[in-house]
Amino acid sequence: MYAVIGVSGNTGSAVARTLLDLGKRVRAVVRRPEAGADFRRQGAEIAVADLADTTALAAAFSGVDGVYVMTPPLLEVSDPDGTKRAFIKAIRAAAEQAGAPPLVVLSSLGAHLSSGTGPVVLLHELEQALRDYPGSVSFLRAPYFLDNWAEAIGPATEEGVFPSLITLGVRIDMATTADIGRIAVQLLLEAHRGRRIVELQSSRRYSAQDVALDLARILGNPLEVIYPPRSVWHDILTGAGLSQTGAVQMAELIDSINADRIGFSGEGECRTAEEDPAAMFGRMLDAKVT
Ligand SMILES: NC(=O)c1ccc[n+]([C@@H]2O[C@H](COP(=O)([O-])OP(=O)(O)OC[C@H]3O[C@@H](n4cnc5c(N)ncnc54)[C@H](OP(=O)(O)O)[C@@H]3O)[C@@H](O)[C@H]2O)c1
Repeated sequence: MYAVIGVSGNTGSAVARTLLDLGKRVRAVVRRPEAGADFRRQGAEIAVADLADTTALAAAFSGVDGVYVMTPPLLEVSDPDGTKRAFIKAIRAAAEQAGAPPLVVLSSLGAHLSSGTGPVVLLHELEQALRDYPGSVSFLRAPYFLDNWAEAIGPATEEGVFPSLITLGVRIDMATTADIGRIAVQLLLEAHRGRRIVELQSSRRYSAQDVALDLARILGNPLEVIYPPRSVWHDILTGAGLSQTGAVQMAELIDSINADRIGFSGEGECRTAEEDPAAMFGRMLDAKVT
């Protein structure tokens, strides 16, 4: 049995789906019972626990062979860091109370840096908080999610444009959350002791232009990549629902990507994500039609 946090989100749903496909038992950890309804229908057990609730989390983590730990981005709340620090404290305490089951923890490339990377700084803190965890702990440092580009499908289909805050010419590793979930499951199923860092690369590096070309091919229309100037990012990000703090943090993260500061630390092992933008957009557009 594996406990999975965030089953209504991107990576948690991929982890739970992959485990169930492999015939493994899943305990979906949700703060709202309805968030686990799909997985309950597929045979998962449901544990209701808020990430700040140590007692409920300890019950959710008890008797399992491993836990997939993710912390939500929370870019829409006014104090994302304070809220995440409470989650980190509760997750660590709950896991110890539950007898220190193996943890696979979603982190990010750049989590070796303690500042200047926006929301990734809290993933650095998460890794630090679990450094001396008494059980097995694997930090999966994911690259930029290809799924982030889902937001470009609307402007691409309606206006023929593909907006990007990642600057012209910048090429970085990007992976789908389906691939990240699949690799998290590999880590959950491997016998491992102690602490390890796994940095995830993609089989090739992508620019915004590369991703737009894949989407354009699928749509059958040319797309113009547009790069809004730095001066309007804050308005774009708050307009998309981020809080003032969330927008500042996200701009800092994109700055660090554009300046090539978010990258591989070389501290751990490296694995490779294979799924490309075309496969992901195909899946997303199929889901819209059906
Ligand atoms: N985007 C990127 O390019 C990128 C790259 C590397 C790493 N990351 C990291 O990946 C993580 C996000 O992963 P994701 O995309 O899989 O997340 P996501 O899709 O945003 O899902 C967040 C999940 O957390 C749950 N949740 C939120 N607040 C909760 C609470 N108080 N108690 C219990 N559950 C709660 C949500 O449940 P509800 O349905 O109830 O809201 C949802 O299932 C972040 O830490 C981010 O920094 C992102």
